[in-house]
Amino acid sequence: MTLSLTLVQGAYIVAGLLFILALAGLSRHETARNGNRFGIAGMAIALVVTVLAATGGVDAGAGGVDREGSGWAGLALVVVAMAIGAVIGLDRAKKVEMTGMPELIAMLHSFVGLAAVLVGWNSSYETTAYPAIHDVEVMVGVFIGAVTFTGSIVAFLKLSARIRSAPLMLPGRNWLNLGAIVAFVVLTVVYVLLPADAVAVRATVLGVVTLVALALGWHLVASIGGGDMPVVVSMLNSYSGWAAAAAGFLLGNDLLIITGALVGSSGAYLSYIMCRAMNRSFLSVIAGGFGVEGGTVSADVDYGEHREVTAEGAAELLTSARSVLITPGYGMAVAQAQYPVADLTAKLRERGVDVRFGIHPVAGRLPGHMNVLLAEAHVPYDIVLEMDEVNDDLADTDVVLVIGANDTVNPAAAEDPTSPIAGMPVLRVWEAAHVIVFKRSMATGYAGVQNPLFFRENTQMLFGDAKDRVEDIIRAL
Ligand code: TAP
Repeated sequence: MTLSLTLVQGAYIVAGLLFILALAGLSRHETARNGNRFGIAGMAIALVVTVLAATGGVDAGAGGVDREGSGWAGLALVVVAMAIGAVIGLDRAKKVEMTGMPELIAMLHSFVGLAAVLVGWNSSYETTAYPAIHDVEVMVGVFIGAVTFTGSIVAFLKLSARIRSAPLMLPGRNWLNLGAIVAFVVLTVVYVLLPADAVAVRATVLGVVTLVALALGWHLVASIGGGDMPVVVSMLNSYSGWAAAAAGFLLGNDLLIITGALVGSSGAYLSYIMCRAMNRSFLSVIAGGFGVEGGTVSADVDYGEHREVTAEGAAELLTSARSVLITPGYGMAVAQAQYPVADLTAKLRERGVDVRFGIHPVAGRLPGHMNVLLAEAHVPYDIVLEMDEVNDDLADTDVVLVIGANDTVNPAAAEDPTSPIAGMPVLRVWEAAHVIVFKRSMATGYAGVQNPLFFRENTQMLFGDAKDRVEDIIRAL
């Protein structure tokens, strides 16, 4: 079926608007479900129209250049490819644990990068009305795609602990990165100047740029330490958006350009927010550890003895409290403690206790991790607050329950300038009258640094699996 160009462009504008509504919706709990629906509707329209236009052809009307479709054979190939992709995607999405999400996302980004490289290579053999512009588009698309491809593979390997997460500190690493970028610029100029019939030389230049970009992507992410991996994943998300936008230029697909730019810019902004939340320099992270000299974990300090509490003792403290703040972390996700935490919240609220949640921007292992878990357990949205919304009232809070969180409540970040996490904004839970920390041992958190909170006068440790201990408290109430 041949589609009219007006119909295709109209559908793309509608899909683009739906994507913008999806992003707006996803920025708040209350509207996230609708945001998802908008995204699904936009993607459905985009897929159907693109496949029909590519296989049935496009009628550009009087004066326009019609586009021929690939026919039934093309449609059959697309449908088979989509079916295989859908089966694998559904299977992975069903099996993945919330805590394994970052590595799944990293792997998916590598596919976007690879697709951009393939589209670039394919387009390099096409003839167009503006060859110089087209050549630059090919080079940029292949370069960003290849950097995204290998960068995402290294991120996947680091996040899934298949390779060590410590930063690779090659001597002169910043010069290597700079050299790769200069080589890309020079080779792009050479590529544009080469005559169109020098097919073998052009392919060689494109091949060299591909190899340089593959090496750069690998090196950029390998140079970044485990602590910065969350930012790297969101940055690769941004790169994958720009890679898709570059592919959109090559394919003459306006929607791919719009969608790629949306993903690229929102990913870049998210990376910036996360850098601020972890007190990292945005530039140093995107430039592959530029200016970072590999921080050291401070020497063992004797913080004294810690105090312990039983579930019954904790229940007693909670029943006499007027205000309680719960701050969850990665351990809540590991223990899947969100359901008993939601029950405990409901029980305390029935007794007139003011219960609120304080969420650190990088609590857990991916942005919004805690918010998703709490929403899943039906904790009311209006009591789930952000770090900045609760930090100033912590001094007036009777009891804080730290459930499987560690780095995000570490006073060393605020008080010890020599700490590897110095300057990272944290929840100032130690200002509350009582703090109960739920964890299984005295082990360190993700950043590998000891937490002086555990040894403070007003802190009591409740050891064991967070889910079991919260259930014990509910029974004791
Ligand atoms: P962490 O600092 O990693 O601390 C989690 C704590 O949970 C650990 O100390 C662990 O202690 C405890 N725990 C683990 N399993 C448990 C269980 N079953 N029951 C009870 N406790 C359990 O977590 P956080 O405070 O959420 O901080 C997040 C850290 O991860 C930050 O350093 C952040 O930069 C980093 N990070 C964040 C992201 C994003 S985007 N959010 C992505 C990757 C990394 P025990 O072993 O003693 O139980």
